[in-house]
Amino acid sequence: MLNVALPKGRLGEKVYALFEKAGYDCPALKEPGRRLVFENARAGVRYFWVKPSDVAIYVERGAADLGVAGKDILLEYEPAVYELLDLGLGRCRMAVAAPAEFHDSGERTLRVATKFTNIARRYYAERSRDIDLIHLNGSIELAPLLGLSDVIVDIVETGATLRENGLAVVEEVLPISARLIANKAAYSFRHGEIERLVLQLKMNVG
Ligand code: PRP
Repeated sequence: MLNVALPKGRLGEKVYALFEKAGYDCPALKEPGRRLVFENARAGVRYFWVKPSDVAIYVERGAADLGVAGKDILLEYEPAVYELLDLGLGRCRMAVAAPAEFHDSGERTLRVATKFTNIARRYYAERSRDIDLIHLNGSIELAPLLGLSDVIVDIVETGATLRENGLAVVEEVLPISARLIANKAAYSFRHGEIERLVLQLKMNVG
């Protein structure tokens, strides 16, 4: 049985639909309720609903053989897992954003609020820009509005959150999408099973 950690929520539902099309269906997963573990012995798969930012932890530690995590999480936490496939789902981008009138003269330390401190640190280090990093856990867009930071580094999907708060993208940091990841030991011990699944998924990825 392959253990697969799916990110709970809208992305997870799309991911499951892809696995279903690839032949790894699990009808119980669609029944209403609060269960978190579902299996289909015939298809040889067991799914868990996991908080999206925790998927890589389950996979890294072997509680799941496979999982689906955003490229943002993989770059921020650098878990020791294999990245097997870009599923082309959950596409968005990481960007620097600021109030529309903001202009960086480059003269003083830039105050950057973000959930993704490692990505932001690397991004500005590559540009030799001095920054003061402010780690927040959510509602990042508030920081420049209240003068807590000059800019934010955050995920932009539709752009609605930025627009409705008078912010605009200043620079693109990187494109993001959902990736299939594998536990390293599981990938060698269950190589055949995992590669069969990857092949089936590849045939259904748009
Ligand atoms: C994310 C991100 C932005 C928003 C972008 O927040 O941090 O706030 O989505 O989406 P949009 O471009 O379509 O408006 P999330 O909903 O994950 O909540 P958060 O405030 O906890 O980060």
